[in-house]
Amino acid sequence: MKKNKKYQPGFATRAIHVGQEADAQTGAVAPPIFPTSTYLQIELGKNKGYEYARVSNPTRDRLEENLAALEGGLGSKVFSSGMAAINALCTMFKSGDHIVAGNDLYGGVPRLFNQVLTNYGFEFTYVDTTNPRNVERAIRRNTRMVYVETPTNPLMTLCDLRAISGICRERKIEFVVDNTFMSPYFQQPIWLGADMVIHSTTKFLNGHSDGIGGVVVCTKPSQLEQLAFIQKCAGAILSPFECWLILRGVKTLAVRMEQHDRSGRFIAEFLSRHKKVKKVYYPGLPNHPQHDLAKRQMTGFGSMISFETGSLANAKKFLKTVRLCSLAESLGGVETLISHPATMTHAALGAAGRKAIGLTDGLVRISVGIENVEDIVKDLDAALAVM
Ligand SMILES: Cc1ncc(COP(=O)(O)O)c(C=O)c1O
Repeated sequence: MKKNKKYQPGFATRAIHVGQEADAQTGAVAPPIFPTSTYLQIELGKNKGYEYARVSNPTRDRLEENLAALEGGLGSKVFSSGMAAINALCTMFKSGDHIVAGNDLYGGVPRLFNQVLTNYGFEFTYVDTTNPRNVERAIRRNTRMVYVETPTNPLMTLCDLRAISGICRERKIEFVVDNTFMSPYFQQPIWLGADMVIHSTTKFLNGHSDGIGGVVVCTKPSQLEQLAFIQKCAGAILSPFECWLILRGVKTLAVRMEQHDRSGRFIAEFLSRHKKVKKVYYPGLPNHPQHDLAKRQMTGFGSMISFETGSLANAKKFLKTVRLCSLAESLGGVETLISHPATMTHAALGAAGRKAIGLTDGLVRISVGIENVEDIVKDLDAALAVM
């Protein structure tokens, strides 16, 4: 990993202190929330740096500074959801532009690309990004962005960030990475060559399943300027309350991720030993086809695991029986969440789309929470027994 020459405080220190300074006016240690729509002007044309809250808000400024510091970016812009962030990112490009994207992404992303953005003249090619050569081959004269997730949702495949960033850099194409699954605690794509990083802050960054949000972290002033303009024009901003929840959530990101990772490894091993489980998808397992790459570009393996129950009927029985683990969409919270990608997050892909990437009806995805791990094991074991 590329070293920053200037001294930087450690990750947990940055999470707790950058953008989280005590309030200058009152000394309040927790950042204040500014629930205002507008700001008093001193006189015509003169203000205290704020005019209207769609354009800027001090609580939002704090969060944008904090998230940029965690990813090693120059700055960031936050939006009302992860999808709003991805949509804002895409509107940095224009009709006729071509985007190369991974073929195994969170299902909402191809839905946005295929069912909304193609109506505005955007062109997309989906490739298996596990092989950087596939990305290279898909690039055309009008390609402006390469968009990937690593690990992917839900099949947990990785792409080599350094290799793809080299391909993009040579051709002056923006390389964008969705880092939601790892969080900046375990993976920092900008240090490996990404131009922008996006997150659904709904997940690990918030960490408590109590808010929706998204962020685009930038590396260049021109990107930030363009996104600030899009925020102002299109208006999909994150409310000051939601910004505050994430500022509070990131303070414990480091300790949460350590526990998520410990429990994730434990559950992945438990599942891989279980006779009812056909296959486990987790980059921390030595038999994962990209385990070596995972060790090179991530500093932990996280707590996202998918596994094969063998059939839709088995998945249904299993999901009906779990008690401690909640059957729910989403991930990255302190509580263990279980989902069925084929009918939930990836329903919009259609049966043929799911078959093409190997996403079966028997696949179950777990976001391992930070409860006592032996209680999670007990719950999973009881549910596997009924299959
Ligand atoms: C990897 C990934 N990226 C983006 C999103 C979209 O985020 P949001 O639900 O906050 O709009 C999700 C949602 O599940 C996701 O899993």
